[in-house]
Amino acid sequence: MTHKILVLNGPNLNMLGMREPEIYWRDSLADIEDLCTKTAKSLKMDVECLQTNYEGEMVTLIQKAHDQYNGIILNAAAYTHTSVALHDAVKLCGLPVIEVHLSNIYSREEFRHKSYISPLAKGVLCGFGIMGYSLALQAMKNELNAGEKDNG
Ligand code: DQA
Repeated sequence: MTHKILVLNGPNLNMLGMREPEIYWRDSLADIEDLCTKTAKSLKMDVECLQTNYEGEMVTLIQKAHDQYNGIILNAAAYTHTSVALHDAVKLCGLPVIEVHLSNIYSREEFRHKSYISPLAKGVLCGFGIMGYSLALQAMKNELNAGEKDNG
């Protein structure tokens, strides 16, 4: 079975490339999506990359993900630190979620140390720039394969 993964990026990540390069490097959202597509291909997975600046749209996409995808790689950006609605959506969607951040949120301002996603995530990758997405796809593949073995 070919696993299909949603890579969902949140607010302001469409501005990468020009946005605070000392924190987020110079890679753009298109570079992330390109890396995810190439990584998924090499792992024999399907990937769809979406980005939105709207919290409610993220909630809707996560709600609908259950019927369309096997797992979610989620960089909820600033909503990570504020959104109970996203926490609830991740909880009810029932899919494995891996949280990704380009920057190391724990070496930055204190308000970024709190994540409403982490307690529900299979794992968290932060501080590795766009490579985090590639690592997350590999981890997701392992996770889904292990689940299939467990279920016979
Ligand atoms: C981010 C970290 C968040 O704190 C911030 O609000 C972002 C990007 C990251 O990828 O490093 O927008 O999620």
